[in-house]
Amino acid sequence: MLSQKDNEALTRVGAGTPMGELMRRYWIPAAFSHQVAKPDCPPIRVKLMGENLVLFRDTNGRLGLLDERCPHRTASMFYGRNEEAGLRCVYHGLKFDVDGNCVDVPCVPQVGDKQQQKIRKQLAIKSYPCIERGDVVWTYMGPAEHKPAFPELEWTMVPSSHRFATRHIQECNWLQGLEGGFDATHLTFLHGGDAEKSRSIVATIYEVLPTDFGFVVATGRDPGNGSIMWNINVMLMPFHKVISSIPHAAHVWAPIDDENTMLYSVNFHPSRPLTDEDLAREKSFRGIHTENIPGTDHAIRNKANDYLIDRVLQASGQSYTGMRGLGTQDCAIQESMGPIADRTREHLLASDAAIGKIRRLLLQTLKDRAAGKPLPGMRPESYRVRSARCEAPKGQPIMDLIDRHVRVETRAAAE
Ligand code: FES
Ligand SMILES: [Fe+2]
Repeated sequence: MLSQKDNEALTRVGAGTPMGELMRRYWIPAAFSHQVAKPDCPPIRVKLMGENLVLFRDTNGRLGLLDERCPHRTASMFYGRNEEAGLRCVYHGLKFDVDGNCVDVPCVPQVGDKQQQKIRKQLAIKSYPCIERGDVVWTYMGPAEHKPAFPELEWTMVPSSHRFATRHIQECNWLQGLEGGFDATHLTFLHGGDAEKSRSIVATIYEVLPTDFGFVVATGRDPGNGSIMWNINVMLMPFHKVISSIPHAAHVWAPIDDENTMLYSVNFHPSRPLTDEDLAREKSFRGIHTENIPGTDHAIRNKANDYLIDRVLQASGQSYTGMRGLGTQDCAIQESMGPIADRTREHLLASDAAIGKIRRLLLQTLKDRAAGKPLPGMRPESYRVRSARCEAPKGQPIMDLIDRHVRVETRAAAE
């Protein structure tokens, strides 16, 4: 369990909160590039970190992420006209460029040039810088002097043909998603069939170690032959996971606000395009991707219809949950804990050792940021890592395994 104070510190992401300020030191995904595909296309609404924003691509192809509220009289910029290198509010015609500068105030023709300049200065709109990587628009919402170079996240660096990405909204706090992503024990149960038969494969060793990119969660099983079977998962600050599967996979839990999360799910291959077979498997929605209501980020299997749970399937022993798809199972159970899980009511068990350690590490990182200490993940190349499964002699330090199996360069050399 966690104190109310710590639970608040870890979950709240608004501006000025400890976690909100920590996350604002990193690049955050705002939308897929195709949502603002062409210059002068319609703007879209984006809610991130509790802030209502609009995203547009201007005449010159530059991306602007602006406050949704016009600074004149707070009308929504979503209805704006995207024209001639700026977004124009349709209430009284004020126009803003991608950097948030007010470039036209046509509703006061009676004031002179000097006065116009003054008004424009006063009416600059809040804007955040954007960058496109991996067919995703990312933004940085923190202090300009701390803006890091974009991290070398492997899935963002491969060609589009090597990647398949979807996203959907989870109606719960981001930390429920992240904790689910690093909860090794649930794989046997939530995503399993007949869990009784699977008890023998539950891990018994849990290690969480801080690294230069975030941390690793290593869960181990002792088959009794002098070695340990390790499953090492990487958490890249502040909300990324890389999954060890073929093709590789990744998640990003980007907070929409305190009680909603945009979960990006990605499959990618480092060196070849995804095959029709790869894509057909992912588009069957049995894996990490959820099938959405067309044109929305809402899953077809959702809370309102109890995720289309099939009680006959559940009773059959083939599916522990009776719900189809790993993504749906995760979403259902994480949402069922409430919009922000009340961690003061929990009873953690030995199998939750990693969860407890992750929380302590995150709390320490909040303190480090407040104290002005260096944060993990500021070196772009530190993100060149993959999760891994490996067998190693008992007693081998996990840091050795990280160098050997997790860091992409040294891993390639070892293979
Ligand atoms: S409210 Fe936007 S121009 Fe007046
Ligand atoms: Fe899961």
